[in-house]
Amino acid sequence: MNNKIPAVTARGLTKYFGDFTAVNEIDFEVCRGEIFGFLGPNGSGKTTTIRMLLGLLQPSAGSISVLGLDAHGDAASIRPRVGYMSQRFSLYNDLTVIQNLKFYGAAYGLSEALLPERIQEALQMAGLEGREYAKTKDLSGGWRQRLALSAAILHRPEVLFLDEPTAGVDPISRRAFWDLLYRLVTTPANEETQGGVTVFVTTHYMDEAEHCHRLAFIQRGEIIAYGSPKDIKHQKMSGQVLEIAPSNAVAAVKVLREARDSGKLPFDEVELYGALVHVVAPGMEELQSRITTELRQASIHIEQMQIIEPSLEDVFIASMR
Ligand SMILES: Nc1ncnc2c1ncn2[C@@H]1O[C@H](COP(=O)(O)OP(=O)(O)OP(=O)(O)O)[C@@H](O)[C@H]1O
Ligand SMILES: [Mg+2]
Repeated sequence: MNNKIPAVTARGLTKYFGDFTAVNEIDFEVCRGEIFGFLGPNGSGKTTTIRMLLGLLQPSAGSISVLGLDAHGDAASIRPRVGYMSQRFSLYNDLTVIQNLKFYGAAYGLSEALLPERIQEALQMAGLEGREYAKTKDLSGGWRQRLALSAAILHRPEVLFLDEPTAGVDPISRRAFWDLLYRLVTTPANEETQGGVTVFVTTHYMDEAEHCHRLAFIQRGEIIAYGSPKDIKHQKMSGQVLEIAPSNAVAAVKVLREARDSGKLPFDEVELYGALVHVVAPGMEELQSRITTELRQASIHIEQMQIIEPSLEDVFIASMR
C-alpha cells in the first residue's frame, strides 16, 4: 500500500434529497493500493456516497478528487480509469458468462484485438474457467458475484468501487471473493501504475471489515469512526471486553442486564454472541469476581471466562449507542 498518494479524497461531502440529509459533511481519504471499507447500517448513505464518488450523482456540497481529478468536472477522464460493481449489479441473466464479459468489454471500449486476452485474464482471475458457456442465471450467487467483479475489471481500472459485493453470499464464497480482492490490490493495474488496484468497498459484514486496511463507519450520513481496524478499536473502546461461556447464555444476558439496569454492576454493554456473552466495561479485572457471583446466584454455571481483544462488532455496537 502506498500511504503517500491519495486515490480518492472527499472533503465536506454532503447530499440532500429535499430536506433530508443523506450524507452530512463527510471527510475521508483512500490511499492508492489500499482496501478501504465503508461500513454502515441500511440507509446510512453508503450507496449515495459511492454514486457521488463516481460522478453519477452531484453532491449538494463539498469536493471529491479521484486519481487527482475533480470527480464532477473531470468525470469523463475518470470513468475509463475506475470500475464499478453496483449494489444491484446488472449482469444479463440470459447471456452466458462469456457473452456478459464481451458485452461489458465492448461497453468499456476495449478493442476487438484486446478483448479475448482480457476476457481470458478475467476468467482466470475469477476462477470461472470451465464456466464460460454457462447461462448467468444458472450460476450460484457466489459465482455471479465473481463474474460481476470480472466484468468490472476488464478495462484494468486503477480504482474499484464495490457496493456490497458479497451481500447474501455464503462464508466460503465470501472468503474466495476477498482472496480475489487481495490479489487485485497486490497486482499492478496496468503498466503505468506502480502499485495495485485501490478498492473502495461497502459491506455489512464485520469479518470483512477486519480485513480492510482502513475503514470509515457511517451512520445516518455521518462518519463516526475512521482509521485502521486497530486504530478504531483503540479510539473507540474505553472499556475491556469480557467473554463468558455460560451454561445458559440467554439467561446470563438477562441476569447481567438486570444487574446493569438496576445500577448494581457498571457495564457499558452486555451482548449475546451465539452461545457466548460479551460484557464491556472499564476495570474488568476487578469486575470479574462480581460477575461470577451474580451468575452463580442465578444458578448459571460459567464454563469459561476471559478478557479478549475487542472485535469490530463490539466497537461498532458501542459506537452506535
Ligand atoms: N434518490 C433519492 N431520493 C430520495 N432519497 C434517497 C435517494 N437515494 C437515497 N435516498 C435516501 O438516502 C438514505 C441513504 O440511502 P443509501 O442508498 O445511500 O443507503 P445505504 O447506506 O446504501 O443503504 P443499504 O445498506 O440499504 O444499501 C436513505 O434514507 C435513502 O432512502
Ligand atoms: Mg446501498
